[in-house]
Amino acid sequence: MTTFYVPVDHASGVPLHRQIYDGCRHAILDGLLRPGQRVPSTRALAVELGVSRQPVLTAYDQLLHEGYLEGRTGSGTFVSAGLPDDLLRCRTPQPRQGTRRPQGSSGDRTAEGLGPFRMSLPALDRFPHTVWSRLVARHAHALSQAQMAYGDAAGLLPLRLAIAEHLRTARAVNCEAEQILIVSGSQAALRLIAAVLLEHGQRVAVEEPCYPGARAALGAGGAEPVSVPVDDEGICVSSLQTLGRKVRAAYVTPSHQYPLGISMSAARRFALLDWSFRRDAWLIEDDYDSEYRYVSRPLGALQGMDTHERVVYIGTFSKVLFPAVRVGYLVVPMSLRERFVEARKAFDLFSPTLYQLALAEFLSEGHFVRHLRRMRGVYLDRRNALLAGLARHCADHLHVYNADAGLHVAVLLRQDMNDVEVVRRMGERGLTATALSGCYSGADKRSGLLLGFGGSTERRLVQATRILGEVLRDSG
Ligand SMILES: Cc1ncc(COP(=O)(O)O)c(C=O)c1O
Repeated sequence: MTTFYVPVDHASGVPLHRQIYDGCRHAILDGLLRPGQRVPSTRALAVELGVSRQPVLTAYDQLLHEGYLEGRTGSGTFVSAGLPDDLLRCRTPQPRQGTRRPQGSSGDRTAEGLGPFRMSLPALDRFPHTVWSRLVARHAHALSQAQMAYGDAAGLLPLRLAIAEHLRTARAVNCEAEQILIVSGSQAALRLIAAVLLEHGQRVAVEEPCYPGARAALGAGGAEPVSVPVDDEGICVSSLQTLGRKVRAAYVTPSHQYPLGISMSAARRFALLDWSFRRDAWLIEDDYDSEYRYVSRPLGALQGMDTHERVVYIGTFSKVLFPAVRVGYLVVPMSLRERFVEARKAFDLFSPTLYQLALAEFLSEGHFVRHLRRMRGVYLDRRNALLAGLARHCADHLHVYNADAGLHVAVLLRQDMNDVEVVRRMGERGLTATALSGCYSGADKRSGLLLGFGGSTERRLVQATRILGEVLRDSG
């Protein structure tokens, strides 16, 4: 078995076990050591590095504990076969031997990866691949010439019918298939809304804090996003009322405020609908992960309470299936339908037909509802594991703000703690969290962390909370 290069610097002041741990971990993440590959024995590596055996034992212990290595009785120690491919592949090449990694770079690289706490990831390990690939393959084989030609800009009718039925029953959305447009995820929906509803220089109210992607998409065509605070009932309609007539629309996440997780109260929903009617403004409802609630029944959509056709509703399959499927949809008032269809043609004509065919059947054959039902149990277990781990390892350093719904938990840190720095340090330990302060546009930011739990197993989540506890203790 070949050994591998671990840079060890006796003069650096960094403990030897830490240097060996870092060296091994980078070798694994950068693909120099591959899943399933045997690593040298502690004795052999100690000899190779010219150090005593103890620091190598300590480093290996930690790597075993964190799941990078696994021991097989009688045959040695191996790089864990279960490390997700994407975590490994998306890493940029290791700097040449002897060169130092720029400060902060390992954290940045982990942020691109699939470390525990990564936001917006569903349980990719529990996706029903067999059923899905059968449907995709069947439609790929049977693709007619008509289906290979240009498709409907609004989207495939069977898919729109299936989505309309699902939204009416599961989300109390008041809609017909004619009002639905299939687009490439919610991000594309937001761009389309900006193009149709917002003129250059007009103002669009967004929640403070807000999903940064929404703020960017809505402002991309020259409209001006204006932040409106949220309190524990949702967006503050009283603040919205002070903004004047130039506000053409308000972007809201009523079912599960992104990022804080609040669900908008009924009183606030009525006040918001009343504001939009009186001001002749549009409401943009982003219902990105409303399917999962853990403490009470899912709330119906704001769209279903609207009697004046002011709401444009956005949904996505990114969280309920997987993000790379890139299928989302809009439900638009009938009065806006033609404008949206024309704008869609001007953008990119229509969405790929093959995935729409497979998805339509996935819904109509009942696989989607079965998958959602199964995932509710999976996410409840993952959320509970995360909360238990936080209570056990991190309780002195953070406060769980909201864990009622969705695929992430929002936690608050002490206000004098720099959450961006905490996230960077977490990145160095293989954790992929998001800083809450990054969701604020004004100077008054809360320090906190957004901890995604959808994409990690219970075991990984508990391990990750232990590491998070250490990072928070070290961050003071
Ligand atoms: C609130 C919110 N809106 C929109 C999106 C974008 O989702 P999509 O993958 O459908 O573009 C996300 C993604 O995480 C989100 O959190």
